[in-house]
Amino acid sequence: MDEVAKARMAQVLHHRKAGLALGEPVAPPISVATTFHLPEAQGAAYYYGRSGQPTWDAVEAQLALLEAAEVVAFPSGMAAISAALIATLRAGAKVMIPSDGYYVTRLLGRDLLAVYGVEVVEVPTLEMAVADFTGFDVIYIETPSNPGLDVLDIAALAARAHAAGAKVIADNTTMTPLLQRPLDLGADLVVAADTKAPAGHSDALFGHVAGRDANLMARIREGRRQTGSVPGPFEAYLVHRGIETLEVRLARMCESAAVIAARLKAHPAVRALRYPGLDSDPSHAVARTQMLNGGFLIGLELADEAEAEAFLRACPLIEQATSFGGVHTAGERRARWGDKVAPGFIRLSVGVEPVEVLWTAIEAALPGGKT
Ligand SMILES: Cc1ncc(COP(=O)(O)O)c(C=O)c1O
Repeated sequence: MDEVAKARMAQVLHHRKAGLALGEPVAPPISVATTFHLPEAQGAAYYYGRSGQPTWDAVEAQLALLEAAEVVAFPSGMAAISAALIATLRAGAKVMIPSDGYYVTRLLGRDLLAVYGVEVVEVPTLEMAVADFTGFDVIYIETPSNPGLDVLDIAALAARAHAAGAKVIADNTTMTPLLQRPLDLGADLVVAADTKAPAGHSDALFGHVAGRDANLMARIREGRRQTGSVPGPFEAYLVHRGIETLEVRLARMCESAAVIAARLKAHPAVRALRYPGLDSDPSHAVARTQMLNGGFLIGLELADEAEAEAFLRACPLIEQATSFGGVHTAGERRARWGDKVAPGFIRLSVGVEPVEVLWTAIEAALPGGKT
C-alpha cells in the first residue's frame, strides 16, 4: 500500500463524520424505506428507493474516496459490468474482451451484447497488449486476469486505445482500488465485483462502476434507475462495514500470499505457479509498475485433476468454493467451469489465517505431504 492508498483509506474510515449532527449514529443506518416523504416540492435528496437511498450512498462515498472518482453501486459485479458496457456500446459498435478472463463476462458478450448487434471480439489478455484497436469502440480488460493472472500494462494499452478512438473499461476485481488504480493509468471506467475482497466475508453480492467523466457516469446512474439494477440496503451495509477493514485484511492476505507463493514455487509437486509478486513470474515486470503488491491470488498447477482434487479435499484450511477475496482461504480447479487452464490448475485465494498455520496445512495436503 502506498501513501496515496493509505491516505484514502484513512479518509474512508472518517467519511461520515463531517455530515453527522449531534447524536447521529457513526455507522450508517440500514435504510429499508422504498418511499421517502415528498410533499409537493421536488428536490429532496431521496424520493424512491430505485432512484437512490442513503445506505447505497454511504458505500458509494467510501468507494468514491478510494477511486478518487464518481461511483455508482450495483447489486453484483456482473451488474456493474453490464451497466458499463451498455453505457458505452450500441448496435453496430465493436468491443474487445479477454478470452481468458472471468467467464461470465464472455457469456454476457455472446448471449446479450451480440444479440443486440454489438460485435464482440475475444482476444487473450496478453495479446491485447499488441492487438490492433482500429475500429473498436471499447477495449475491456481484466488485469491481473482471472484465473490466469496475466498482467497488461494499463497505461500503454489506454494510450493506444485512445489513439484509436476507443474507451477502456478495466475490471479491477482482483486488485481493488487499494492495490491498483486503473483510472490514474488512463482507463475511462473501472468495474469491480465488491462481492470479493471489499465485502470480504463471503456474505454479500455487490459491484460498482467508477469513472471521472461526469456525462458518462450520469448515463450509468440513469441506466441503473431505468433497468432497476439496484443493490439491496442490507448488502450495502455489509459492504460498507467490509470496506472499513479492507486495508488490514488485504495487508495480511497479500503478505501471506507472497510467502506461500514462494514456498509453493519451490515445492516438487507443483508443476507451475503464477503469482505476479514473484520476481520469476512472467507478469512481474509489468505488475511492479502498476500493482502495489502481488495480490492475494495464486495460480497453482498440480499434476492432474485427481491430484488437484485430492489436495483440495485434504487441506482443512482451504474452503472449496468458487469465489475469492474472502477472509477464508479458498481454492478450486478452474477447469471445472470451462476456463482454458490445465486440469490440475487451482486458483488459490489466500485468506487471513495466520500464515505459518496455513502453510503447514497446505504443505501437509500437497502430494508427498505428511497428512
Ligand atoms: C474478475 C471478476 N469480475 C467480475 C465478477 C462478477 O462478480 P459478481 O459475482 O459479483 O457478479 C467476478 C466473479 O467471480 C470476477 O472474478
